[in-house]
Amino acid sequence: MLASDVVVIDADERRREQIKAVLEFIDSDAIHLYGCADWHAILEKHERVQAVLLGHCDNMDALLSVFKEIKSTAPRVPIILLGDSGEHDGYPDEVKRGILSHLDWPIKYRQLTSALQQAQIYRDSHGERVVEPQKRSPELFRNLVGNSRSIGKVRTLIQQVASTDANVLILGESGTGKEVVARNVHYYSTRRDKAFVPINCGAIPPDLLESELFGHEKGAFTGAISARRGRFELAEGGTLFLDEIGDMSLHMQVKLLRVLQERTFERVGSNTTISADVRIIAATHRNLEEAIKDGRFREDLFYRLNVFPIEMPPLRERGEDIPLLVNELITRLEHEKRGSTRLTPAAVMALTQFHWPGNVRELANLIERLVIMYPFGVVDVQDLPEKFRVDASNLPTTTIAVSEPSPTPPTDYSTAPRLPREGIDLKEHLSKLEYNLIKQALDDAGGVVAHAAQRLKLRRTTLVEKLRKYGLQRTDETTES
Ligand SMILES: Nc1ncnc2c1ncn2[C@@H]1O[C@H](COP(=O)(O)OP(=O)(O)O)[C@@H](O)[C@H]1O
Ligand SMILES: [Mg+2]
Repeated sequence: MLASDVVVIDADERRREQIKAVLEFIDSDAIHLYGCADWHAILEKHERVQAVLLGHCDNMDALLSVFKEIKSTAPRVPIILLGDSGEHDGYPDEVKRGILSHLDWPIKYRQLTSALQQAQIYRDSHGERVVEPQKRSPELFRNLVGNSRSIGKVRTLIQQVASTDANVLILGESGTGKEVVARNVHYYSTRRDKAFVPINCGAIPPDLLESELFGHEKGAFTGAISARRGRFELAEGGTLFLDEIGDMSLHMQVKLLRVLQERTFERVGSNTTISADVRIIAATHRNLEEAIKDGRFREDLFYRLNVFPIEMPPLRERGEDIPLLVNELITRLEHEKRGSTRLTPAAVMALTQFHWPGNVRELANLIERLVIMYPFGVVDVQDLPEKFRVDASNLPTTTIAVSEPSPTPPTDYSTAPRLPREGIDLKEHLSKLEYNLIKQALDDAGGVVAHAAQRLKLRRTTLVEKLRKYGLQRTDETTES
């Protein structure tokens, strides 16, 4: 059921009527007006309430008790405070902490619209139907999102190699998801119940790396006050992920090569040989072939590691994955209870045009920043930090070539976008166009899939299929049924 009712509580009847006028103007479904004493019955049906707009009561004590009662009867219903300008500081701390937002009186149409939108998002993500966070969290680490052909290829490679014991080498720029791939290989292997042990070979000082990897005996070196197991032992039966292998010193490369050849090692300061049943996955953002030429990487180690290479494409080459990634990254923050936000189709489209030198990690950082800047809000192109603010009207997807005015719009292809001189990726272009129109239809239909399908002259099942493809299916789950 959609939470669409708005409840207004204010001691002053004239103010109540004024608020109602604005609400009617923005098309709220059902508006309920109450004084500060007679509102209780409505919150018994609180699952229908999108938000409570709480205005003035006779005094601050009266307001505080109304606030507390709402919180105890309907803790999930967001409260929007309507106070006089500059009055915010005067509210009790409990109220300031417990409200979703604060609007100044007299109420402005734009601010109220965005506060209600925020309330709707809050309601959707804190509603009764939200999945338990614990149930999803292990999935989140290895969720390899993406619909591009290149990510599809990576998924196939993961499936092919997972069940073998072959060493895997994952190559790609920083932030492209190399660790995500490594965790997937482990997860789909027969070793999934044993440990996945990551180690960043570039971040650990060379003289400590040996004992990190192989462990040490008590007194093996200054500071070795007790014996310690290394990562190889911790990963026994499981998978060892050697991240940034390109940064490993030549000295350590020799030691590692020996373990890979003989499947045995010794702790530092020990003569006892320990055998290792460990699957090795290595990753680097460096070009190892060049490093070999420069004498910085051993060729024999390279061939040992490079039994099954997987290359992660940079994000700029798979813009069509960005809408899905944005959804995934927001969902993660929601499940970690760190807040939420929504992006307009234009904002998402602008992000698909950015060159992402930091790849998915940079996108994740941006989303985190937007959730802090616009908690439960709606982010449009102009709200994005400047460098991401590509003018969406100049994008090939939305450019309508200026031509003769046409009397028959829908089937007249003279208003179709012009083919840019440098050409376009037709498949990607059409996906973006499709995503954009579906998103608009859904937004216009208030998220009701059946209505959106009618607008698009699609069968409902076809639309559901497409929503799944674009990672939009959550809208379907939360608004219908
Ligand atoms: N395809 C993907 N789907 C979901 N999340 C991804 C994907 N690729 C990368 N990420 C996320 O981006 C961040 C960087 O990924 P990571 O695997 O650490 O990159 P790398 O090891 O290549 O530097 C992580 O938060 C990761 O969860
Ligand atoms: Mg990494």
